[in-house]
Amino acid sequence: MKKGLDFTAEINQILGTKALHALKGKNFLRTEDVNMEQSFMLFHLAERLKQMHQSHIALPPLLNQKTVTLFFEKPSTRTRVSFDAGIHLLHGHSLFIDKSITQMGRGEDMQDTALTLSRYTDCIMGRVFAHKELEIMAKYSDKPVVNGLTDEDHPCQILSDLFTIREHFGRLRGLTLLYAGVSDNITDSLLVGCAMLGVNMYIASPKQFPVSRKYLQIAHALAKKSGAEIKIFNEMPDSNTLKNVNVVYTDEWESMHMHLDKKKLKPILSKFQLNEKLLSKCAKGARGMHCLPALKGEEVSQHVMYVKNSLVWEQARNRMYVQMALLSAILRN
Ligand code: CP
Ligand code: NVA
Repeated sequence: MKKGLDFTAEINQILGTKALHALKGKNFLRTEDVNMEQSFMLFHLAERLKQMHQSHIALPPLLNQKTVTLFFEKPSTRTRVSFDAGIHLLHGHSLFIDKSITQMGRGEDMQDTALTLSRYTDCIMGRVFAHKELEIMAKYSDKPVVNGLTDEDHPCQILSDLFTIREHFGRLRGLTLLYAGVSDNITDSLLVGCAMLGVNMYIASPKQFPVSRKYLQIAHALAKKSGAEIKIFNEMPDSNTLKNVNVVYTDEWESMHMHLDKKKLKPILSKFQLNEKLLSKCAKGARGMHCLPALKGEEVSQHVMYVKNSLVWEQARNRMYVQMALLSAILRN
């Protein structure tokens, strides 16, 4: 065992704090279901789990005897594998369920499915189309439900993206993030997460895709406390604005719950592309981010994805550690 890198005692101490104790048995359906203090505690925990894992030190069995259902109504690469691998590393067991091959494919409803699944397993991670369906799952499940993406929110992604930004820049407060592209579920979750943790949030989205008023309201209330600045643009901001931007984030134009005429929209959407020219107008050391999957040549250039020090792949990696921290707090004995 490498001395000094076994953080087991510290991990248990973090999990025992009042802030994280309050997450025990709770759902995580929306980004704002954790507060600022809980987010920073989860980051601390994720950081320690990552350090131990990357140093090949056996992790504490925080999910021993716990089974987590991974329920999917739509495709996934990162969410499925990061939850599965992370649960395994903490000595838990996960169960992949594709909705289409359950009895739901033959008409059984979410109420009965949630009532059943929660009788066998300790937690359900759900990726569904309509957010309302996830709320039904949470209402009838006897066990906590974690959002693995809905048409409205992707809180695990955003919590882990904020962890990645903090890991790279060494801070969050006072940084400025520009979301450029089609305003969607990722934008709304980012807006709330950034507003909560003090990151200035600029959104540049074509007028055909206005930012959700509901999320703007939530974000403005959080920003009052954190001091974050929120700005909305219908075109790419001018160079004076861009020079304050530290992170440019984008997402694919057409989310899984959308139906866009991409051919028709391409001339408009291309103006919002995350590429090296855009990053060169931003603050020194600015980085591009993408939740993935990416359609290179559409919302993002090939170069930004693979440039040296690209944050995109660390961003994908960190999903696992932040979700491990989250599940350890929710499923703590
Ligand atoms: N970012 C993300 O959630 O990726 P998947 O759709 O592959 O899970
Ligand atoms: N906005 C995308 C994110 C995919 C991770 C979608 O909902 O399909």
